[in-house]
Amino acid sequence: MTKKLDLYKCEICGNVIEIEHEGADDLVCCGVEMTHLKEFQPNHDNAHFAHIEVLENGDKKISFNHPATFEHHIEFIEAISKDLKYVKRKFLSPEENPEMILKCDCKEGYYIKLYCNKDGVWVSNK
Ligand SMILES: [Fe+2]
Repeated sequence: MTKKLDLYKCEICGNVIEIEHEGADDLVCCGVEMTHLKEFQPNHDNAHFAHIEVLENGDKKISFNHPATFEHHIEFIEAISKDLKYVKRKFLSPEENPEMILKCDCKEGYYIKLYCNKDGVWVSNK
């Protein structure tokens, strides 16, 4: 079975998909089985670790000390409520600063997931 919000990648064409509704896990693209992208958990010094700053107005600024080049960049950042009911996603251009503003009271708690074009999927605060 697939799991809600898990990511899969086609190693041939590069398609990346996210599961919105769980089902069988034999996903196929370009005639071959897609790779289930494992989630890694970064330590504080890792470039994929989410730094969360609470701003004066209560918004959260989420940022990363990660390269932003065409060869190595974060493609998207997601803030996901721990009950999996809410997802906020920001897509980034290769040379865009890897950060996003999260506007929510987030009482249910949330974690941060990113997809790096070189290093895969990383989750913080899960
Ligand atoms: Fe990376």
